[in-house]
Amino acid sequence: MTKHDLEQRYLAACAIAYEAGDLARRRFEDRASIGLKFKGPQDYLTAADGEVERLIIRRIGEAFPDDACYGEEGGGTFGSRVWVIDPIDGTANFARGVPHFCISIAFVDEGKPAVGAIYSPATAEMFAARRGGGATCNGRPMQVSTTPDLKQATIELGWSTRRPMQNYLDMMARVAAAGASFRRAGSGALGIAYVADGRADGYCELHINSWDALAGLLMVEEAGGWINDFLAHDGLAQGNPVVATTPILKDAVRAAAGILG
Ligand code: IPD
Ligand code: CA
Repeated sequence: MTKHDLEQRYLAACAIAYEAGDLARRRFEDRASIGLKFKGPQDYLTAADGEVERLIIRRIGEAFPDDACYGEEGGGTFGSRVWVIDPIDGTANFARGVPHFCISIAFVDEGKPAVGAIYSPATAEMFAARRGGGATCNGRPMQVSTTPDLKQATIELGWSTRRPMQNYLDMMARVAAAGASFRRAGSGALGIAYVADGRADGYCELHINSWDALAGLLMVEEAGGWINDFLAHDGLAQGNPVVATTPILKDAVRAAAGILG
């Protein structure tokens, strides 16, 4: 892929995330018509998820008709150039009137994440990165934290019903015993972007899907952070455990999370 092709996709990802975020914000503000359903226990779905995803896929198809697309809600195909989309990440927050949710769009070229855009409509923040081009929040360069020790650190521990609750409680107990503070704010994509911006010192989850993680992981790398080999063993289609943290804390965070892969 040429520099020009990459730049075009970076600009498109940001523009589409912004447009999709504006639609999501309008649906969020009209909560009475949110159309809430459940895909499974604690797995929220709203009518807006599908509506926003269709808008994103339409816009990508108009701009890059030969690229593949894969979305959380409607699926799709994985090609050598593929867009991986979470139309609303933090759906449970969105559905309950909590403004911590985002649009997450990643572009993967030949198995390597090349572009990431995450837009938070409630805070009007655009987190963005392209491979080799750094990571920014509303144009300001992002850098991971330099917290020296877990006793001063805050780690986000993502949770879903895809792994046993006991494993999550064990991870939380280890992180707490190591002296870190922990949080679970309900959007994996924003949680990982926050590591890139030094708002947390790590994000760990025992299983996360590629549409939640890829855009943020590129930002963490570009912001000088450390990430695990998330795309190993078909992580694109199947998801994987995730650790995104800082070079200083990487050994301590991996050991406390119990995620060594
Ligand atoms: C979920 C959120 C959550 C994370 C889960 C995701 P959704 O996505 O990102 O924070 O822990 O792994 O499935 O359901 O809000 O799109
Ligand atoms: Ca999601």
